[in-house]
Amino acid sequence: MAIQYQENGRIFTLHTDHSTYQMKADSYGNLLHLYYGDRTEGSMEYLLTFGDRGFSPNPYEAGDDRTYSLDALPQEYPYQGSGDFRSPALAVEQADKSYGLNLRYGGYEISKGKYSLPGLPSMYGEGLEDAESLEDAESLKIHLTDQVSGLAVTLLYGVFPGYDIITRAVCVKNEGNGPAALKRVYSACLDFLHGEYDLIQFYGRHAMERNFQRTALCHGAQVIGSRRGTSSHQYNPFLILAGRETTENHGPCYSMSFVYSGAFKAEAETDQYGQTRMSMGLQDEMFSYELKPGEIFFGPEVIMGYSGHGLGTLSRSIHKAMRRSLCRGKYKTIPRPVLINNWEATYFDFTGEKILDIARQAKELGVEMMVLDDGWFGKRDSDCSGLGDWQVNVKKLGGSLGSLVSRINGLGMKFGIWMEPEMVSEDSSLYREHPDWAFAVPGRKPVRGRSQLVLDFSRKEVADYIFDSICRVLDSAHIEYLKWDMNRSIADVYSAAGKMAGGDSPGSILYRYMLGLYDLLERLTKRYPDLLIEGCSGGGGRFDAGMLYYTPQIWCSDNTDAVDRIRIQYGTSFGYPISAVGSHVSAVPNHQTGRITPMKTRGVVAMAGSFGYELNLSAISEEDKNCVREQIDAYHKYWHLIHDGAYYRLTNPFEDREAAAWLFVREDKGEALLNTVALETHGNPLSLYIPLEGLDPEAMYRDEDTGTEYPGAGLMSAGIPIPPRTGEYQAFQVHLRRI
Ligand code: GLA
Repeated sequence: MAIQYQENGRIFTLHTDHSTYQMKADSYGNLLHLYYGDRTEGSMEYLLTFGDRGFSPNPYEAGDDRTYSLDALPQEYPYQGSGDFRSPALAVEQADKSYGLNLRYGGYEISKGKYSLPGLPSMYGEGLEDAESLEDAESLKIHLTDQVSGLAVTLLYGVFPGYDIITRAVCVKNEGNGPAALKRVYSACLDFLHGEYDLIQFYGRHAMERNFQRTALCHGAQVIGSRRGTSSHQYNPFLILAGRETTENHGPCYSMSFVYSGAFKAEAETDQYGQTRMSMGLQDEMFSYELKPGEIFFGPEVIMGYSGHGLGTLSRSIHKAMRRSLCRGKYKTIPRPVLINNWEATYFDFTGEKILDIARQAKELGVEMMVLDDGWFGKRDSDCSGLGDWQVNVKKLGGSLGSLVSRINGLGMKFGIWMEPEMVSEDSSLYREHPDWAFAVPGRKPVRGRSQLVLDFSRKEVADYIFDSICRVLDSAHIEYLKWDMNRSIADVYSAAGKMAGGDSPGSILYRYMLGLYDLLERLTKRYPDLLIEGCSGGGGRFDAGMLYYTPQIWCSDNTDAVDRIRIQYGTSFGYPISAVGSHVSAVPNHQTGRITPMKTRGVVAMAGSFGYELNLSAISEEDKNCVREQIDAYHKYWHLIHDGAYYRLTNPFEDREAAAWLFVREDKGEALLNTVALETHGNPLSLYIPLEGLDPEAMYRDEDTGTEYPGAGLMSAGIPIPPRTGEYQAFQVHLRRI
């Protein structure tokens, strides 16, 4: 059993293959966190120490015992009002406007399989998807109640032993007689009794997402989050707490991934006693969710990972877990078509014939799917109009969508299309008909973003209308792929549906917006089970575990420059599987940076993801065309390694200036693909030696291209030489097979 309950001591133990998580309902009924770390047996209660600590108060029932304080003891789910003055996970404004709350243990349930969350994405265990590789999960619910208000809190835990993953979520039910307003709901909290930690987080901006930042925790909180209604380019909802000495291959590290695509908050704080608290949940600024008697609220899931052996192992656990037990649909396990997208080739300036030309040329080089990006609908020749009017611009395409798609299918290519369903342009028929469907504060002019407004998906009739519009497009032609875009941050959150009057706040509307979006995506994936959906939000502005439940790949960044992409994809790889990373070869000079990189390098970088092209292939040289043919063959050959293999970061592009290197290794270690890109060029260049990882030390490996044979242990200790090179940004791929 992965989940054990020890009656004597009321101790809950959650075991994965290599980790143990433990908590205890103590004699006062408080739920204390005892341990999370390397797998161990037995009770860890001995870790608790008690002392009379000034200004750390004592619960009433502790009587004269001043050594018992929730301000000093590790909490499993801390809440405002308990006398713990660290950052709470739950804050509730009661009917009497107080923040009084006293959550006491009220029982538990253990079950086979993984819990699910109504209306919200979450990891699943066996039985929900029928792929063979699924994990056998177990679930635990712990009930806590507040006698006075009748508020019932249930903590949910899912244990995936083989992935070394534990999930958490929370559910709050109002079983009392008066209303309660939820002011903060975090889904997970981890208290560490001691230790010095670094916080690793992934900050960024549009076209430069998920930069790696590692800083030492100190007294005071480090807080990241998003107020933008989306998970955002600026801070990704993924966090790692690592020991000071932890590296890729050594030392303890803990991660939290939020399975949610809206506004969030995450914190890490070292307190007065040198203890550290890490937590993650919904953004609480402007948040207020009114819970009437009988109503129930679900906080989104947090996926927690632990590795005692460094960041690489942690990432590989997360990759496997998300790939197998979070992503869904037909393309979860089969190769996705190599695509060409016309965006950077044409922007808005295209006709049906031009698209066909791009498709013809691409087909000749081996590309398998044509994706028609923005500009095919309504009045949309720039980004100032047309969103919301999802009717084909027949004049621009020179005919119906159906006829264009049949001609593309006739070439032997699949067809995919771009949409931005959550948005509306003021210059559109939809907006003229339903101005109140867009977020805006009554009597005030809304903030525009990319000249567009956001549709209020918290309203069912709005989401339903858009659902029907999408279905009409998808039913009108043989469409096998949808790029689901979302190109602005959400401001002016105010629902004109009259909900705001009843105590709802912008924060609750944003939460309901996400439920509306998820519901729409769920309906879409049910109705079109074979449709491949790629998420996108100005590139990687909504690159999160929530979207991965509906869209197994996400356009990683609007920045397609190979050198910048090395950094962006490096950062992304910490928390997300390689199969999720939408990555394309584009033209040079690159449209975002002006940089020129070789075609081969662009291919090697884009291949570390779900591969495609985004340029006019007719405009490139014959030599580059041959390179494209080779790249597509290589991608097919290496697909299983890239998508299902174990991923190793061999360098850190934020520190190692000379070259970047990463490696894919088949699970049985029988095959590996090394990728390197030189980042600097110098006179009289040196050879570079790159030590590999994850190979079989006992085995010999052969380079498939040159026939050179290498000992596995030698490759890992002394490395493999990359010969002296001239020319900027040269890339090398070495394919090794065990002999
Ligand atoms: C966003 C996307 C791009 C492209 C444009 C179209 O910026 O990230 O890939 O689809 O929108 O307007």
